[in-house]
Amino acid sequence: FPAIEEERKLKFQIENMLFGMGNPLLDISAVVDKDFLDKFGLKPNDQILAEDKHKVLFEELVKRNKVEYHAGGSTQNSVKIAQWMIQKPHKVATFFGCIGTDHFGEILKKKAEEAHVDAHYYEQNEEPTGTCAACITGDNRSLVANLAAANCYKKEKHLDLDGNWELVEKAKVYYIAGFFLTVSPESILKVAKHASDKDKIFCMNLSAPFISQFFKEPLMKVMPYVDILFGNETEAATFAKELGFETDDIAEIARKTQNLPKENTKRQRVVVFTQGKDDAVATVGFLSALVQEHPLEECIRAGHYAANVIIKRVGCTFPEKPDFH
Ligand SMILES: *[C@@H]1O[C@H](CO)[C@@H](O)[C@H](O)[C@H]1NC(C)=O
Ligand SMILES: *[C@@H]1O[C@H](CO)[C@@H](O)[C@H](O)[C@H]1NC(C)=O
Ligand SMILES: *[C@@H]1O[C@H](CO)[C@@H](O)[C@H](O)[C@H]1NC(C)=O
Repeated sequence: FPAIEEERKLKFQIENMLFGMGNPLLDISAVVDKDFLDKFGLKPNDQILAEDKHKVLFEELVKRNKVEYHAGGSTQNSVKIAQWMIQKPHKVATFFGCIGTDHFGEILKKKAEEAHVDAHYYEQNEEPTGTCAACITGDNRSLVANLAAANCYKKEKHLDLDGNWELVEKAKVYYIAGFFLTVSPESILKVAKHASDKDKIFCMNLSAPFISQFFKEPLMKVMPYVDILFGNETEAATFAKELGFETDDIAEIARKTQNLPKENTKRQRVVVFTQGKDDAVATVGFLSALVQEHPLEECIRAGHYAANVIIKRVGCTFPEKPDFH
């Protein structure tokens, strides 16, 4: 039975090969108007963390008649798209994060299962599952994340446990969005050091300007272990400013970022800065090709394919199968 043998081999090689860790959030999205944005002091195209004044925003949003719920969270979305691009075997992607023992948590678990992602959540009952309000005006999307349970991820309570750490060890490619630096930098460092020691690929995402601005210290602690850094031009510009690069030329910023100190010198750091709105999603398809050990050009091609599909849909959703070869 050569076909079965082939499938077994494939499975043996790549199950749990991509490891992601981040903030699992349930996206609550609705179309709003400019008055709504103004009322809560939101920019039309932004990503921020919820403050006390945004509590009412969530209440108002769910009362609207055309509200949609999607499984979300930046890292979880990225590994979900990578799994979708790969299709089989299932559970190539592992995901860790913290949720609450509540209805939204159950939805997230179900969605992860449907996406064939091997999610192992740290479940606690002190905080509810995190949510992310997506306030849509035209082509713009203003995201307000209420981390809640996602903020409660604990290295000692989850990552360090034998069964969980074994999954980390199984992986060959690691992806963590910068957003998670606000939650558990010690968890990120542990994973990043492991990847570097074992000569595996560790990827990070600058995620948003506020990460470089307000979480520069933990970001720079992880940077020596980063093999691939993703970001868009706005995030790159802020990063450059925070590091005193004294240039706003994107290619120059990329070069300087590439040359920042690196622990594992066997592999040069790759910097992927996207320009333009659509290209942000492109980088996610990149991950799927990377896991399959394709060359860089192929990773970029896969990225563009995923972007083209997902950009045309609401939330981070996709058709049943990709049409990419
Ligand atoms: C989207 O945001 C940009 C600024 O980021 C603004 O120029 C544009 O008018 C906004 N579009 C809508 C429909 O709100
Ligand atoms: C890059 O992402 C930030 C959020 O991190 C967003 O505000 C900005 O508009 C994006 N820039 C482009 C050019 O898409
Ligand atoms: C990096 O994060 C941004 C914002 O969440 C996202 O649009 C982009 O696709 C991410 N890149 C990867 C490789 O996941």
